[in-house]
Amino acid sequence: MMDKSYRQFFALQSEPFSIDIKRKDIMVTPSLAAVQDRIQYAIRLGAVALITGEIGSGKSTALRYVIGGFHPSEYKIIYITATSGSILELYRQILSELGIDIKSASKAVMTQLIKREILEITSKKMKIAMMIDEASLLRLEVFAELHTLTQFEQDSKPFLPIILSGQINLVDNLQYRNSLPLASRVIAKSHLKGIDLKTMDDYLRHHLAIAGVKRMLFEDAAVTAIHQGSGGLFRKANHLARGAIIAAAKSESTSVTAEHVRLSATEIL
Ligand SMILES: Nc1ncnc2c1ncn2[C@@H]1O[C@H](COP(=O)(O)OP(=O)(O)OP(=O)(O)O)[C@@H](O)[C@H]1O
Ligand SMILES: [Mg+2]
Repeated sequence: MMDKSYRQFFALQSEPFSIDIKRKDIMVTPSLAAVQDRIQYAIRLGAVALITGEIGSGKSTALRYVIGGFHPSEYKIIYITATSGSILELYRQILSELGIDIKSASKAVMTQLIKREILEITSKKMKIAMMIDEASLLRLEVFAELHTLTQFEQDSKPFLPIILSGQINLVDNLQYRNSLPLASRVIAKSHLKGIDLKTMDDYLRHHLAIAGVKRMLFEDAAVTAIHQGSGGLFRKANHLARGAIIAAAKSESTSVTAEHVRLSATEIL
C-alpha cells in the first residue's frame, strides 16, 4: 500500500514495525539476553555457539545487538551472511571482512592469508570472532573446511570462536561425519521461539514507541489475534500489525481491533 495517510492518522513519526530498526531500539527480551550470554561465553572459550530459530524469530537482530555490544577497539568481529556457495566463496567473504580484497587465489593461499591476519589481530591483544548468519545455507563440505580455519599449529591458542546462526536444520547439518570436528566444539546453543502473549503486548508497544506513539493503539483482542496469527514470530507480527494499523486508519477507527488484524491477514496471504 503506497498510501501513507495512516501515518498521519495515528501520528506515527516513522514507518512502524520496520525491518531496519536501530540497535538502540532493539527490545532486549530474556531470550535475546540469553543469546548474548551464550555468544560471549563461546567467544571467551574460543569455541562454537549455535543460534537457531524459525524464520523471522529475531536471529539476525540478536546478532546485530550482540555485535554492537563489543567495543571495536577490543574486538574484531568477522560478520558474514552465508550463501550456498563454495568454500572459496566463503573465504573471499572472510578476507573481504578482514580488509583483504582478493579476486582469485587457491584455497591454500586464502587459508594462509586468513590465518595470518587472525594471528596479526590477536597479536595486537585484540579478540576476534566470526559470526555466520544464515549458516543453515552452508554446504556440508564447508563445515569440514571451516574447522581447519580454527586450527593453529602453535598448540591450542589462539582459537577462532565461531557463532553459527540459522534455521533449525543447521543442527542436523552438523551431525554429518565431516562436520563433526566443528560440531565437537559447540559449547552453547540457543533456540529462538515465538514470544508469548505478554511479550507480544510489550513488543507492539515497543515498536509504536519507536515510531513516536505512546498510546497503545491495539486493543487486547487485536494483540491476541496478532500473537496467534504470527505464532509469536517477530517478522510475521510486524506485517500483521502494520496491515492492521492501515486497515484501522482506512476505517477511521481510533484503535486497532481484532477485525483489523483479520483484514490485514487476508491481505498478506
Ligand atoms: N529484539 C527485537 N526488538 C525489536 N524488533 C525485533 C527484535 N527482533 C526482531 N525484531 C523485528 O523482527 C524483524 C525480523 O527479525 P530478524 O530479521 O532478526 O529475524 P531472523 O530470525 O533473522 O529471520 P530470518 O529467518 O528470515 O533470517 C526485524 O526486522 C525487526 O523488525
Ligand atoms: Mg536473519
